[in-house]
Amino acid sequence: MDQTENPEHTIAAKNVFTNQKEVQTFSEILQNPLPKHAPFFMDVTLRDGNQALRKPWNLDQKETVFKQLLKLGVQGIEVGFASSNDQEFEACSRLASIAPENVVISSLSRAVEKEIDISWKAIRNAPKPRIHIVYPISAFTIQNVLKTTPENVLQKISESVAYAKSLVGDRGEVQFSGEHFGDALENLDFAVEAFRTALNYGADVVNLPNTVERYRPWLFVSMVRAVTNALPKDTKISIHTHNDLGMATATTVESYFSGAIQLETALNGLGERAGNTNTFEVAVALHNCGVEVPLDLSAIYETSRLVSYLSEVPIYEKAPLIGEDVISHRSGIHQDGVAKTRHLRKGAYRAFDAALIGRPEGDRIEFTSQSGKSAVFCILRDAGEEISLEQAGRLQPVLKKISEESGKGGLSLNEIMTEWNKLKAIAHESVSE
Ligand code: KIV
Ligand code: ZN
Repeated sequence: MDQTENPEHTIAAKNVFTNQKEVQTFSEILQNPLPKHAPFFMDVTLRDGNQALRKPWNLDQKETVFKQLLKLGVQGIEVGFASSNDQEFEACSRLASIAPENVVISSLSRAVEKEIDISWKAIRNAPKPRIHIVYPISAFTIQNVLKTTPENVLQKISESVAYAKSLVGDRGEVQFSGEHFGDALENLDFAVEAFRTALNYGADVVNLPNTVERYRPWLFVSMVRAVTNALPKDTKISIHTHNDLGMATATTVESYFSGAIQLETALNGLGERAGNTNTFEVAVALHNCGVEVPLDLSAIYETSRLVSYLSEVPIYEKAPLIGEDVISHRSGIHQDGVAKTRHLRKGAYRAFDAALIGRPEGDRIEFTSQSGKSAVFCILRDAGEEISLEQAGRLQPVLKKISEESGKGGLSLNEIMTEWNKLKAIAHESVSE
């Protein structure tokens, strides 16, 4: 099939995109000012993250994560799906009751009065309560899952949002999520209508989820931009992305630069299937771009360990920022660059500062058969040895041979010291002869 004939890219979507000025020159991009609004981190670990765990958290575990989220400094916390079971209701109520003044506390409900009632009952004691209503809006889901009409969808949205608004009054907020928004390519005009309806009936925030990540970040971000442009100027746009193809962070970061204010993210990227957008990755990417990130970034590393322990979901060693191995440098070229830029704020191969995220260790240089003399120099200098670069250059082939012949890869400091001591002894002998 001709790629331009993807059946999902129908006229409606094409019309919206061709009206946008999508192409910018590089210098235009560099001159783009940062968004005026600060990002609002709405954490969904306790809801989307928890619902996907093999062993969902009990109240104590939820409370531990909740307190850690407060330490991290998120602006909002979705504490759960109050109507899903009694334990969940109890957890939502408890967390709402201990929430601080400045944090939005939300509970998810489908567009069903009974569920909305339970959500409100659970969170109404929070200083800033929010009822979150979700209802599907993509043509595919309306037709194949809901098996209803778009008119009925609008009706459901208006009734449920109006009902939730009547409960929260001036004390709280209502968020409406158009589930499967990222799939609404062929009915984007309808998606806009759905969000407009939600706003007309009292929604304070509209959330645009990439419920299932199927395409490119650019496509989703273009849709976010199209909807943002079509809705009233002061609309609070939120986005919620999943990581099915591994691009959720990119999608979220770019959506922020395209107008989204609220970013729904999860600790360690927990969530349905491949998870939600990882809070840490979004936070550090925005930080690197010069955005004032309203989080305590130094709490990232300890938070990741705690969440991994409580969720029983290991952090894989190549996980950006928090993976065990992502600070290691083993090849000669890289080690040379690391050695030469260690003292600078920007490292040749350092994407982030370990101290920024509270990691106890920064660049780690290890010696393997791939390593060069800079590695030997750095490792021994760090161990307090007075080695010169020239001596490191002589030691490197010896160590490389040992590494290759032993077949065990990395050499320990002890093994390196042994060879270094031999080299020093030989040098000493030749001087005294
Ligand atoms: O992925 C999704 O669409 C959701 C909604 C509840 C926002 O989790
Ligand atoms: Zn989700």
